[in-house]
Amino acid sequence: MCGIVGYIGERTAQEVLLKGLSRLEYRGYDSAGVAILKDGRINAVKRQGKLSVLARELASNPLSGTMGIGHTRWATHGVPNDTNAHPHLDCSGKIAVVHNGIIENYLELKKYLKKKGHRFISDTDTETISHLIEDNYKGDLEAAVRKTTAILKGSYAIAAIHEKDSGRIVGARCDSPLIVGIGKGENFLASDVPAILDYTKEVIYLENHDIVTMTRSGVKITNGAGRVVKPKVSKVKWDISQAEKCGYRHFMLKEIFEQADVLQRILDERIRRGRIVFDELKLKESDLRCIKRIAIVACGTAYHAGLTGKYMIEEYARIPCWVDTSSEFRYRDPLVGEDTLVIIVSQSGETADSLAALREAKRRKAKTLGICNVLGSSIAREANGVIYTHAGPEIAVASTKAYTAQLAVFYLLTMYLASLRNTVKRSRLDSLVSQFKKLPSLMEDLLAEYKSDYNKIAAYAQEFKRYYHEKHNKSYFLYLGRNINYPNALEGALKLKEISYISAEGYPAGEMKHGPIALIDENPWVVCIATRSKTYDKMLSNIQEIKARGGIVIALVTEGDEEILHHSVNYLVELPAVEEFFSPLIVVIPLQLLAYYVALEFGYDIDQPRNLAKSVTVE
Ligand code: M6R
Repeated sequence: MCGIVGYIGERTAQEVLLKGLSRLEYRGYDSAGVAILKDGRINAVKRQGKLSVLARELASNPLSGTMGIGHTRWATHGVPNDTNAHPHLDCSGKIAVVHNGIIENYLELKKYLKKKGHRFISDTDTETISHLIEDNYKGDLEAAVRKTTAILKGSYAIAAIHEKDSGRIVGARCDSPLIVGIGKGENFLASDVPAILDYTKEVIYLENHDIVTMTRSGVKITNGAGRVVKPKVSKVKWDISQAEKCGYRHFMLKEIFEQADVLQRILDERIRRGRIVFDELKLKESDLRCIKRIAIVACGTAYHAGLTGKYMIEEYARIPCWVDTSSEFRYRDPLVGEDTLVIIVSQSGETADSLAALREAKRRKAKTLGICNVLGSSIAREANGVIYTHAGPEIAVASTKAYTAQLAVFYLLTMYLASLRNTVKRSRLDSLVSQFKKLPSLMEDLLAEYKSDYNKIAAYAQEFKRYYHEKHNKSYFLYLGRNINYPNALEGALKLKEISYISAEGYPAGEMKHGPIALIDENPWVVCIATRSKTYDKMLSNIQEIKARGGIVIALVTEGDEEILHHSVNYLVELPAVEEFFSPLIVVIPLQLLAYYVALEFGYDIDQPRNLAKSVTVE
């Protein structure tokens, strides 16, 4: 939700800021702006629309200057327009601020500031910050920011500049991410690593309530108590090419095709001499042996990975497990305590609801474990233990490779817990490990079938569009799965609706007769996950029931399945044979591709779907 950048050095700030913002556009893309300081004057330009609109404007009327701040917005307070776009200035136009987060007490603060004579021009919560800094400024920007943040309620990552403080950028964070990039004779501020990777790999992950003051030659960080702290500088291990499209038409497609490699990397890193290793786990084996239940808490796609994890953990580690969406968990009275392990799953590690759920679990003395992709993210740092998924940067808003990486971690965690608690024979565990090791190459072969845009699933998507128009836009999708593939039915539906805006629902197939079957006529396209499993025959009956009522069926089946041929399904997708336990990793690939190609057919903006942002740092 919103991306911010800051630069101070010798380069042209406009270029650095625009490049940084282009790498952060996944966080929000309804308007963008920059404020650049030159010869003691702030020049701000902001435009509604994608970053390209701002870039075009700046190409025609460039801003010179070597320090500045920039922002790409996902609107919370105030519609996307030029006025509500960041940076926001104070009354005098001498202070500029960019902000990611939500200031919950902004109305109260605005009232107070208006009474003191401040004039507001936007509908945003952020503008209160620039006026507060103005109010608190007594010749020292850092001190003014400190005084200001002390009265803000809510979440923020901010960067501020002042005309009279022309050699400094001041940043601060609370519950929204902010990192510092260390260069030679230059320094950077950003919401996320890709924004600065073209220039440096040396990064400081700021802690909550830290305030940073950056000059060309140095960085000073003070913590919430006002003490100067020695920051830990981390080295980013991945390359900027990982955050680029590398010839693919969309990040989503690139990320789908990276999945076999991601899986291979996870296996190479986590399985050593047949044993599962989590170096960074930090939770004691004795604690994990004693836990009585597990709660898995997450949002969106990560929630679906968690649901699949429940099937795995209960089957092999035999620990009672439930799964909650973070937004529900945090506001009810969950039964968690010292004997509970709460696993928070989050690609970004910054999702506001998941972070709040983690804090709630800690408050209740549960042991907490984060499964995160982004290194140094808030959830990774605040949980008692962490397992990183190491999927590399995921840029497309629709999550794909992070999901399969989360599934992979759940498989490994299940086997690890099973071995620790002796719930499965060694020989069975060894067989699971060796089957798991075959998955990357099976996935690779499957993906290879879809390398060209003229593949089977792309053709089905084309056919859907034709049918959709023929049925006067009344067609939509249902996804049916059972057992360990039921969460994949939910995930398939989520992928499709978030990028193609077509209605889609996922159900456990056995529930059809309890209501959803009433929906079936000739309009819905029903994706049935009918790979070999203990419920295969039941799924065949579901398919019959749908066909009998006129529904269009796309069946995902195991290669060589001849029985399905007697069921006159409309479209078939064959998948490599794997044990049912591991099938979610294979089944999800065609679901992701189907969502992608349907959105492509309809001509939508696949990587930046409307109304969404990659990392949801607001409630
Ligand atoms: O960063 P997180 O994993 O915590 O994000 C959770 C959801 O916001 C995310 O999975 C969302 O549902 C994706 N856009 C789905 O593709």
